[in-house]
Amino acid sequence: MANFFSNLFNRQSQSVLGIDIGSSSIKMVQLSRKGGHPVLETYGELALGPYTGKGAGEATSLSQEKIIEAVNDMLREKEVNITTKLCGIAIPFASSLMVVIDMPMATKTQLDQMIPIEARKYVPVPISEVTLDWYTIPKDKNADGSAPNDKNQPTSKIEVLLVALHNDTINQYKDIVTKSSLDASFFEIEIFSTMRSVLDQEVNPALIIDMGATTTKLYIVERGILRSSHMINRGSQNITNELSKSLGISLEDAEYLKREKGIPGQINGIEVKEVMTITLNYIFSQANQVVLAYQKKYNKNVSKVLLVGGGSALKGIVDVAQNNFQTEVVAGDPFGKVVAPAFLEKVLKDTGPEFAVAVGVALRRLQELG
Ligand SMILES: Nc1ncnc2c1ncn2[C@@H]1O[C@H](COP(=O)(O)OP(=O)(O)OP(=O)(O)O)[C@@H](O)[C@H]1O
Ligand SMILES: [Mg+2]
Repeated sequence: MANFFSNLFNRQSQSVLGIDIGSSSIKMVQLSRKGGHPVLETYGELALGPYTGKGAGEATSLSQEKIIEAVNDMLREKEVNITTKLCGIAIPFASSLMVVIDMPMATKTQLDQMIPIEARKYVPVPISEVTLDWYTIPKDKNADGSAPNDKNQPTSKIEVLLVALHNDTINQYKDIVTKSSLDASFFEIEIFSTMRSVLDQEVNPALIIDMGATTTKLYIVERGILRSSHMINRGSQNITNELSKSLGISLEDAEYLKREKGIPGQINGIEVKEVMTITLNYIFSQANQVVLAYQKKYNKNVSKVLLVGGGSALKGIVDVAQNNFQTEVVAGDPFGKVVAPAFLEKVLKDTGPEFAVAVGVALRRLQELG
């Protein structure tokens, strides 16, 4: 009984943690709730490169032991001062399999039985080795909310987003949780975390671009539903590599230059902007192909592009992106949904894109507290 009352009274100030274990760094964001609003308590990032003798900003492929060591290091980091174990954890898009499949119109119970059978066609390992989840994609409505007069979409079919996670992946995350004494209530594929933190109530389809160290992820979301996802094998680390090569400087110096200067004009007489935009233009033109294919398939416009991920913290990136798309490009602002001290406003705008996943995870854990 005492417990019940203390929970009741403490509820307002309970803190939760969003954890994102990326390939180049771990991000954590701690939130609580005050007056019904999510409040930022602390946040931090730990570069993983140094755990394998690489530099900050470089992607790594760490052993399970090293990941656990890094998570524990981050939890103990005095400057960040994380004070809660209640968390959720994001799972990388790359560890998941996602596909939109056509299914006959059926009840939820029927679909529950049919989908694992259908999934065998798409999942390259025995179904017993994966955990499946699925969502039906609502059919389009007319602007007035009535059902569409549908020649293109036979009503006898529905679209289902099928999500599969390998059980080994889930077990790896469970192991991290146990060995860090965390209290994780869910694992969620990072896409859904990012959607929660950066999207508002966009009616038209939006493209989210998450630029990491070696890969860039693309998600098309319409009315809060994920419709399409892709991965490009280039990321911000390619920019560092190209800068290092063309300026004849170390990777460490190139990384520093990239973060400090963003997209400048010239450095030592060398046109650095051109060097930096090789990778960006490649990524954005690939992304534009994805947008065009989507628009063609569904006959509707993607009307907003949101940039997230550490690579999107590059100064000047929005302008470069804008040149590649016919549509509005904005920097994602995951801390925009969180109350934070005014003096942090600028730094949270600048570094915000990096924390899109971690903020989204923390927001879900906060929602779960009720
Ligand atoms: N201020 C900045 N300006 C430019 N680039 C930056 C900045 N901050 C971070 N980056 C770059 O962002 C990249 C890391 O992005 P991010 O942290 O989103 O990747 P990740 O989550 O570890 O990777 P992934 O999601 O692919 O596993 C690095 O290459 C780093 O150099
Ligand atoms: Mg990431």
